[in-house]
Amino acid sequence: MLDLDAIRRDFPILEKGVIYFDNAASSLTPEQVVLKEMEFYREYRANVERGVHRFSQMASEEYEGAHEVVADFIGAPSADCVAMLRNTTEGLNLVANSLGFEEGGKIVTTVIEHHSNFITWLRVARRSGCSVEVVRPDREGRFDMADFEAAIDDSTRLVAVTRVSNVLGCKVPVKEIVSLAHEHGALVVEDGAQGVPHLPTDVMDSGVDFMAFSGHKMLGPTGVGGLYICEEELYKTEPLSIGGGTISDVSLDGYELAVAPLRFEAGTPAIAQVIGLGEACRYLDRVGMGEVEVWDEKLSARIVEGLLEIDGVEIYGPSEPRDRVGIVSFNVGEMNSHDVALSLDTEYDIAVRSGHHCALPLMKELFKLPEGTVRASIYLYNTLDEVERFLGGVEDVAG
Ligand SMILES: Cc1ncc(COP(=O)(O)O)c(C=O)c1O
Repeated sequence: MLDLDAIRRDFPILEKGVIYFDNAASSLTPEQVVLKEMEFYREYRANVERGVHRFSQMASEEYEGAHEVVADFIGAPSADCVAMLRNTTEGLNLVANSLGFEEGGKIVTTVIEHHSNFITWLRVARRSGCSVEVVRPDREGRFDMADFEAAIDDSTRLVAVTRVSNVLGCKVPVKEIVSLAHEHGALVVEDGAQGVPHLPTDVMDSGVDFMAFSGHKMLGPTGVGGLYICEEELYKTEPLSIGGGTISDVSLDGYELAVAPLRFEAGTPAIAQVIGLGEACRYLDRVGMGEVEVWDEKLSARIVEGLLEIDGVEIYGPSEPRDRVGIVSFNVGEMNSHDVALSLDTEYDIAVRSGHHCALPLMKELFKLPEGTVRASIYLYNTLDEVERFLGGVEDVAG
């Protein structure tokens, strides 16, 4: 059971009185993470991996230590396998650029993907001879494995799939998809932007070849995210950028890239943010991701139940609470989603997201909702009392 009072004390921003239900866009940050970042600026502010002086040594130690904590948090076999990049989007683009696809073949993805895990592949197809096949779930976000079996064949080079939909909150059977893809010799990249913050993650268990995720959605700072690359692909994968920090040797006519993960982290990295992300993982580890998952389910089940009782409200995504993380999308009658979100903010101090949530294929193809939805997304510091106040707000707006 989460100690909510203690957790909430770690997030002083909550004292402003806002019910923050926009966690799928970006989470709040606990004091421990803020202080850890400040410690870098106050105690050992220097560049990493370059200097012999004490500040640089300390910064490098903390920077490398953060890689280890993050790697451990996602179940990676070593810190070598986790490159610190800017965010999920950059991780996915790195994979797209590295794989090349000049020889054609097929990329399989799904209609529920965030644009970052969708247009990236459309661009690859536009630039190369490969094609993109899109698998669809039902309206609750449930996939039929037979559709993946039909789509993934020996011409498939990559399957790009999210673990959790940022609109429907549904969980995708990534492990089964990986096993199917591997039978056909295809690689799998997981978009972990919503999965890593909300569910226990073990990349060795799921077997994914790549997984991209963002620090700012999991209590960490903005401007930093990770890309897990499995050991087998680690030295076959091309960095997105190269330059300072990525080499072990350079001569007039060539260069040797450094070992992983340094070869992927060109230029001066987001040092404080990487160290902050390490602290965010420590925080989530202390709380326990299993507990986070249980709390997510409890709050979202009550949100769904409460919203269903309000006349004119339509909800999207799984009806079974166990199939959903703490993300609930809905609409109120014919009201524009932005109007609902604005009313909730100005009249009830509730922050929710509205619009297409960077998932236009899902909005257009699955629900015929180009104007989008209102999205309430919760996290470990939200309370049942906040959920009740949110439901009261929606009821008033709907009335
Ligand atoms: C499922 C999913 N994928 C990718 C992204 C992109 O994340 P970022 O903007 O941190 O790169 C998001 C952000 O909302 C997301 O929800």
